[in-house]
Amino acid sequence: MKWRSVAAAALALASAAATVLVATPASADAALRVHAQARGKFIGTALATSPLANETAYRNIAQSEFNQVTAENAMKWSDTEPNDNQYTFSGADQIVNFATANNQQVHGHTLVWHSQTPGWVQNLSATNMRTAMNDHIATVVGRYASNPTVVSWDVVNEVFEENGSFRSSFWYNTLGSSFIADAFRAARAADPDARLCINDYNVEGINAKSTAMYNLVSQLRSQNVPVDCVGFQSHLSTQYGFPNDLQQNLQRFANLGVQVRITELDVRIQGSRTSAKDATQATYYRNVVNACLAVTACAGVTIWGFTDKYSWVPDTFPGEGFALLYDNNYSQKPSYTAVHDALDDGTNPTDTTPPTTPGAPTASGITSSGASLSWTASTDSGGSGLAGYNVYNSSGTQIATSTTNSATLSGLSASTAYTVYVRARDGAGNLSSNSTSTTFTTTGGSSDTTAPTTPGTPAASSITSSGATLSWTASTDSGGSGLAGYNVYNSGGTQIATSTTNSATLTGLSASTAYTVYVRARDGAGNLSSNSASVTFTTTGGSTGGCTVAATLQTQWGGGYVVQPVTVTNGSSARTSWAITFTLPSGHTIVGSWNAVLTVSGNTVTARNAAYNGNLGSGASTTFGFQVARPSSDTSTASGYTCA
Ligand code: XIL
Repeated sequence: MKWRSVAAAALALASAAATVLVATPASADAALRVHAQARGKFIGTALATSPLANETAYRNIAQSEFNQVTAENAMKWSDTEPNDNQYTFSGADQIVNFATANNQQVHGHTLVWHSQTPGWVQNLSATNMRTAMNDHIATVVGRYASNPTVVSWDVVNEVFEENGSFRSSFWYNTLGSSFIADAFRAARAADPDARLCINDYNVEGINAKSTAMYNLVSQLRSQNVPVDCVGFQSHLSTQYGFPNDLQQNLQRFANLGVQVRITELDVRIQGSRTSAKDATQATYYRNVVNACLAVTACAGVTIWGFTDKYSWVPDTFPGEGFALLYDNNYSQKPSYTAVHDALDDGTNPTDTTPPTTPGAPTASGITSSGASLSWTASTDSGGSGLAGYNVYNSSGTQIATSTTNSATLSGLSASTAYTVYVRARDGAGNLSSNSTSTTFTTTGGSSDTTAPTTPGTPAASSITSSGATLSWTASTDSGGSGLAGYNVYNSGGTQIATSTTNSATLTGLSASTAYTVYVRARDGAGNLSSNSASVTFTTTGGSTGGCTVAATLQTQWGGGYVVQPVTVTNGSSARTSWAITFTLPSGHTIVGSWNAVLTVSGNTVTARNAAYNGNLGSGASTTFGFQVARPSSDTSTASGYTCA
């Protein structure tokens, strides 16, 4: 059986669960990570936080096929430190936690880059920019320094032009090339055990750019600058031909004593898919994997995503697409088979050893409709690694899956006895023996008809481009079944999160978007409270705004302040309008503005261009200003400026 689709594999597991099953594929059918591990290499993927939070099919492939992950965006500067010294790690932690749960390593990407770095960094003086860089590296690398999941970092990214000169970036133009050595030293100081890489594109073949990289790495290492590794992005397109000297190029870097790795592989095709184009693409993938296999110092290959459903290619290279291993429906393409077969040398042993038997589950938090289970974890020694657990009821039906040694059951019937057991599964699909069963009885659901009290108005905090944290004053329940938790709804009444405490984390939101949400409490009998009052918050700008904003606090006094200039700088395409959003601390009110039209919704202010300053050519900027009144004891100011 080829693992054509995750659904098919899951079905096979579920249908065989009642019998004694070891769903062991033949060697040629094991997951990519099983073969890669047998060859001593990693096989990685970039992960995007939104599908990781929202799509089971995405998670299943990410965890079963890959043993290394890179955050596609969540660890970049604009995500981790959007404002000076204000760090948000929700997306980065999401990826690291996923990797930890699935026995995967994380490659940190990326610390110092000219792109996806906020405007406040770009406009600093040389002294302040160097301090900001060192602080950023110390904080971001330091956060994961003692976390064994995070093993390496792209310290600097894309520092060369195509002709081999240093890229004319704000880093280079402000600090000269010294920022490169400084960045590596700061990263080494923050985590002495992490492998530190320099990364770039169009350096796969031997050319002016890769030779400049070679000379820089050689020079830095002779100066004892801690450069451990060189990353070759490998964003390839079938229209430009395959870099046939890839292996030779990797080897010349390896001869400098550094590790090499393929960091962002994808292979674009032009126009629509045909079997001929698929075949050419598959050859490119096979060639890259074979080149890495042939070079001892090549640690592995990371692919820049895995499904064409979520690829940066169509947005970035008009007319090109279909660059990855799975199609939009998560079906494997010839490119998958090429990577698989290149990694599978036909002799490596397949993992046929199931994980150890998990402990008997214990049930807690039992309500009339659900319960939490936890159990002693299994271990896996067969090579493919522990992938997670399946939970079954007494008739052998799988009722939940989990990647950790706990699971939450929901949708149960009241006053009913449930007998459940768990089995562990590994990356090759082997299932452990059944754990001992546990029986628990849900609480009675019939007599309690009293709803909990109405919860307080939620307050939004830690707002990022894709998520936010809500918290509210708790409800109480007097009907007998007890407070069970809360549901969170959007303004259309759709339930978007649940929580068992008086706070919730929202993920997978869209950037630069206003969300209005309210909560209802629920009790153990399923009674729902009235709606709380609503709160509106606006997610910060994502990475695609095409414009940047920098705000200057011009003056302030006890009861107010003036922000000016707020400089709006356009990206590369001309535009006819712009909109800046920012957040006012509570109790602050706008008392005047100039050169923009301001609207206020809750704590969010949107400043749109005036009639005369909406047109901005490529790279052009304009300014506006505003004045705010605030309580006289308050020293906070508006923050979170984003441009759309
Ligand atoms: C890309 C991401 O894939 C996109 O989602 C984002 O909008 C832009 O950046 N080189 C890199 C990666 O080092 O970080 C880039 O990722 C692709 C090029």
